Amino acid sequence: MGTEHFDAAAAGWDRDEDKVRRAREVADAVASAVSLTPSTRVLEYGAGTGLVTQALLGRVGPVTLADSSAGMRAVLAEKVATGVLPGARVWELDLETQPVPDERVDLVVSSLVLHHIRDLDRVLAALTTMLAPGGHLCVADLDREDGSFHQHDVEVHHGFDRTDVAARLSAAGLTDVTVTDCTTLVRDGVTYTVFLAVGRRAGTGTGTTRATMDG
Ligand SMILES: C[S@@+](CC[C@H](N)C(=O)[O-])C[C@H]1O[C@@H](n2cnc3c(N)ncnc32)[C@H](O)[C@@H]1O
Repeated sequence: MGTEHFDAAAAGWDRDEDKVRRAREVADAVASAVSLTPSTRVLEYGAGTGLVTQALLGRVGPVTLADSSAGMRAVLAEKVATGVLPGARVWELDLETQPVPDERVDLVVSSLVLHHIRDLDRVLAALTTMLAPGGHLCVADLDREDGSFHQHDVEVHHGFDRTDVAARLSAAGLTDVTVTDCTTLVRDGVTYTVFLAVGRRAGTGTGTTRATMDG
C-alpha cells in the first residue's frame, strides 16, 4: 500500500490519547510475555511514531524503529533528536519489497501493522529471520472485525482469526506460539479487541525466553 495516509497522519498521531494508552498496553503485554533485559535488542516494525517502544524504554536495550512512511520516520527522527527516543535508530524498511536486513535482534515488536500487509507470510518470515536464536516475535493486531474499523480508502485485512495468526507464525518457523488478549481500540464509539501473538525462534542465545529469567 502507499504511505500517503500515514505520512499525513504522523504529525498528529500522538495527540490521540487512545493511541498512547493502547501502545502502553501493548508494551506491557509484551513485557509480560517475554523476558526483557537492558541488553535486549529490539526492532519495532511499522513503528509509526514509536509509542510502543517509548513505553518499553528502560526495560530494553538498543532499539531500531522501522517504518515505510516518511512522515512517521520524520516524527521518529525528531523524537531521537529531542531525547524522547534516545539513541534509537530509524530505518526506512518495507519487508514486502525490500530484502531482509543483515542484522539480528532479540525481540521484534509490531503493533497494528499486520492488517496493512498484503503478503503476510513473506513479512512474517522476514521478521523471523531477523531474530537471534531464542528471540521472540510479538505481533499485536485486530481480532476479526466487520470492516468498519477503516474509514480511509486502503486495502486492509479486516482483523484476523487467532488460529490463522498462530498457524502463520508457526509456518514462519516460530515455536511456542501463543495468542492472548492484549488491549482494545476505540473508534467512533465502537470498541475493537486486539490480540498479542508471540512466537519464539528456536535455539538458545541472548534471546528473551521468560523461563531463562524466572528459572
Ligand atoms: C496503524 S499504524 C501503527 C503505528 C504504531 N505501530 C502504533 O501502534 O502506534 C501502522 C504503521 O505501519 C506502517 N506500515 C504499514 N505498512 C508497512 C510496511 N509494509 N512496512 C513497514 N511499515 C509499514 C505504517 O506506515 C504505520 O506507521
